[in-house]
Amino acid sequence: MRQESPIPSQSIDEDDFLASVRAGLRQHPKSIPPKYFYDAHGSQLFDLICTTPEYYPTRTETAILERHGAEMAEMTGSACTLIELGSGSATKTPLLLRHLSDDAVYVPIDICAPHLRNSTQRLQAMFPAMKMQPLCADYHQLPERVIRHRAGRRQVVFFPGSTIGNCTPDGAVTLLKSVAKLVGPGGGLLIGVDAKKSSAILNAAYNDAAGHTAAFNLNLLTRMQRELGAQLDAAQFAHHAFYNEMHGRIEMHLVSQCRQTIGMNGESFEFEQGESIHTENSYKYSTQEFKHLARKAGWHLQSTWHDEDELFNVHYFTLSAAEPLKLAR
Ligand code: AVI
Repeated sequence: MRQESPIPSQSIDEDDFLASVRAGLRQHPKSIPPKYFYDAHGSQLFDLICTTPEYYPTRTETAILERHGAEMAEMTGSACTLIELGSGSATKTPLLLRHLSDDAVYVPIDICAPHLRNSTQRLQAMFPAMKMQPLCADYHQLPERVIRHRAGRRQVVFFPGSTIGNCTPDGAVTLLKSVAKLVGPGGGLLIGVDAKKSSAILNAAYNDAAGHTAAFNLNLLTRMQRELGAQLDAAQFAHHAFYNEMHGRIEMHLVSQCRQTIGMNGESFEFEQGESIHTENSYKYSTQEFKHLARKAGWHLQSTWHDEDELFNVHYFTLSAAEPLKLAR
């Protein structure tokens, strides 16, 4: 095992969750950023969502990576440094790593330490000769020099799962700019992006019959109770998710089922019946829309792979308009 232990951790502000929840509940409409879904239980629930028949993004992107992983590795360079943002359980990663050489370096970045540790151990067992440098961090606050750069090695960010869709379009441009800074000149970006499609398919994907998405959304309230001592009854809130066609996004909300008050840290937050906490947006983009968005952050589209029904796209971008540099292959 070449994995270093313990996993280095960027200093995550412990008051961050409290400050975000307080600020979000003081706002009208109320909101809480989706990054707080991912405690250990939330990460497990997300993995369950990915197995439901309704949630097509995971299996569709997996099939694209299975089919085109070799071509993707050809473009990134087989001895690149592959930096995965929000690696989670990293189930799709082997589909790419198997086409890289033992000279490649894999850098998974995730906010959830247990998930990061388990997935890195699993991948290290599958690719024992490959150097792996896990980093426990919030990729929205990417430090500039976390990766030990090696001259001549292309840095490529791998950002699957359409997690970019959980940012606002402006937030996505900001994140893609910081990714550009991280990888530097000659760097690449391999990114999964969910496509626009019928409301029926989208609404079903975020309202699975098994109730995993509802549990994932409601877990935020249980996390607030456990970690912040919030006084609330999670049973008095309901999961609500729908496709907002005008904004091209799924919206997830926790809707108060009655007039009620959440007490937290000496403060009271009043809810009307039907009032919601907006917990997540999941933007959907056509290839043209995403190409245009990424261009604002300096990225040039080199290649796109998609499934037959064009439900999901995987794009490869580089920082220069020319063909990808042939570095360290
Ligand atoms: C992580 N992210 C891309 C998922 C999505 O589809 O927006 C999160 C999710 N929320 C509900 N279901 C899945």
